[in-house]
Amino acid sequence: MAIERIIDASVSSDDVDEQKIEITLRPQSFNEYIGQDRLKNNLKLAIDAAKKRGEPIDHVLLYGPPGLGKTTMATVIANEMGKNIRITAGPAIERAGDLASILTNLSDGDILFIDEIHRLGRSVEEVLYGAMEDFKLDIMIGKGPAARSVRLDLPKFTVIGATTRTGALTAPLRDRFGIIHRLEFYTPDEIARIIKRASNILSSKIDTKAAEILSTRARLTPRIANRLLKRVRDYADVNGDGIIDVPTTTAALNLLEIDELGLDPGDRNLLNRIIDNYGNNPVGLNTIAALTGDEATTIEDFYEPYLLQIGFIERTPRGRRVTAKGHKHVGKTYNKEGNQQKLV
Ligand code: ADE
Repeated sequence: MAIERIIDASVSSDDVDEQKIEITLRPQSFNEYIGQDRLKNNLKLAIDAAKKRGEPIDHVLLYGPPGLGKTTMATVIANEMGKNIRITAGPAIERAGDLASILTNLSDGDILFIDEIHRLGRSVEEVLYGAMEDFKLDIMIGKGPAARSVRLDLPKFTVIGATTRTGALTAPLRDRFGIIHRLEFYTPDEIARIIKRASNILSSKIDTKAAEILSTRARLTPRIANRLLKRVRDYADVNGDGIIDVPTTTAALNLLEIDELGLDPGDRNLLNRIIDNYGNNPVGLNTIAALTGDEATTIEDFYEPYLLQIGFIERTPRGRRVTAKGHKHVGKTYNKEGNQQKLV
């Protein structure tokens, strides 16, 4: 069983409470949505233009690390367009028939949000191309020699696809999107504003300094910020008077073993294992996965983006290496010449 990490930015699908709170906190409009200004400005323009023409907006592909608000942005787009949103995910659409039934139940202008769109099966993807391109659905009726193909008209809908990796998308699918955008990490200031907004909605009192501390430990990711806020709120309710101040915040975060930069024992272990075995030499993704006992995709999607963002690791043509900054953070000496090429 995978160990649940508090700083894991994926949604824990079995935690109903967490999902409910996440939905409560979700901004509904561009005005409420903090950060991602460049993306918001581009989308606002596309939405205004589409409304003026009385058409649906172009298909949108959002990519970037988990927890940065791709689903949230899709619901905001639907609200701003005044249309319905149907939310699904690549692995949930198993057969072309599943997709056909979703598509035929949409109305003009509706948004179809497909999370993890890189995980769609080939046959489903092929049906989706035609549907996105000319709003037609080609399906086979019957079997064997009597089988025939029929072409159905579909409503004019918009696909919003989300993926952690655009590289994993096939070129023909990527080409069907008119608007392609990366979600960026948030600034600590934006995260602090998100935390204040969330604590208001949850009716918790948090002081500015405590929000600042949380904002530096949330890996620049709103989903993690809100999750940490809830843990700190629990701590304040149990061990204090419910007010989230600096002592409660630091005590709760220490209990969770989350350090000043938001790294948890899993991140520190990853850095230590690479340094102990390879020093500052580059090392391949699969080797890192073998060192930590994780899947390579877990390293790529969850650990690596933030460690790259804060400059603790860097990508080289020969693999990932831990930087001088990364060595310093875990208290290891950085040897410029390259060093300790030990085999695992
Ligand atoms: N909650 C989660 N993400 C948010 C964002 N970008 N703005 C406001 N509240 C949020």
